[in-house]
Amino acid sequence: MTNKSINLYFCNAFLILALSFFFNSLYAAEGGPCKDYGECDKFKYSLNDIESLQRGAATYINYCYGCHSLKFSRWGRVAEDLQIPEDIFFESLVFDKSIKPGDLMVGAMPEDSVNWFGVAPPDLTLVSRYKGDDWIYSYLRAYYEDSSKQYGVNNLVYPGTAMPNVLLSLQGNQRLICKDIAVIAENGGEKRDEYGNTITKEKCGFLEVEDGTGELTKKEFDTLIYDLTNFLVYVGEPIKATRERIGWYVVFYFLIFTALSSLLYREYHKDYN
Ligand code: HEC
Repeated sequence: MTNKSINLYFCNAFLILALSFFFNSLYAAEGGPCKDYGECDKFKYSLNDIESLQRGAATYINYCYGCHSLKFSRWGRVAEDLQIPEDIFFESLVFDKSIKPGDLMVGAMPEDSVNWFGVAPPDLTLVSRYKGDDWIYSYLRAYYEDSSKQYGVNNLVYPGTAMPNVLLSLQGNQRLICKDIAVIAENGGEKRDEYGNTITKEKCGFLEVEDGTGELTKKEFDTLIYDLTNFLVYVGEPIKATRERIGWYVVFYFLIFTALSSLLYREYHKDYN
């Protein structure tokens, strides 16, 4: 490469970097990926927690598989990775007895489902890769009552979603409510009137579950969605836990190798001095 072409190369790289920052900030200004929900809730997967993955798989097959296939995974692989003995797995989770361990999880939805929902329920094998785990974790907990919609529900993370709230009986009726929030003064403290009472202002858009309407408590429901999302992260890349473990071995190997080679370097250098 000549000097000039190197210069041009760096100019281009810089331009691309600057443009990507620009588009990124445009995207952020739009309210972020979780839309009306604001910031997505943070999700931290734990793929070594086999029990969580097992619970997630059971929830998925019972509540989601009827509509959403996982067509890039095989039944037998899931059973093996989640350490569920194949006979127990097939007995309790696979309802169609003609299915074999090597079969793909192609779903149970007929082709014309698009007529039922307006949108065909997408395959979810890779959903954690293109939507992100934070998004899924927030989405499944952000349904609220909205009588103007076809299924009587709407979603803060995916406004106008064509998916009904299939976990409603577990979560209960979630509503959008308004709350009186203390107004914050410029000095960072709560603003008060001349009698010392806190000044409040009504703010809306908070999610609240009506007491006693769901089978699970809020904490149990959050755990259920945690396990479900964890399972979808696993399905999106079954080798992920192994890959990350090997990554640490490689880093460890490099550290030792660097130490050894620097010792060797010092040894060789003795000849030159
Ligand atoms: C009755 C059928 C049905 C069931 C059951 C169902 N879904 Fe859906 N789901 C849909 C439809 C339809 C869409 C498409 C929504 C849209 O794009 O407006 C969707 C979309 C989604 C999306 C967004 C995917 C994307 O690419 O935008 C996720 C994530 C999702 N569903 C997860 C789940 C999970 C997890 C369950 C089980 C708890 C579940 N769904 C159960 C019908 C269903």
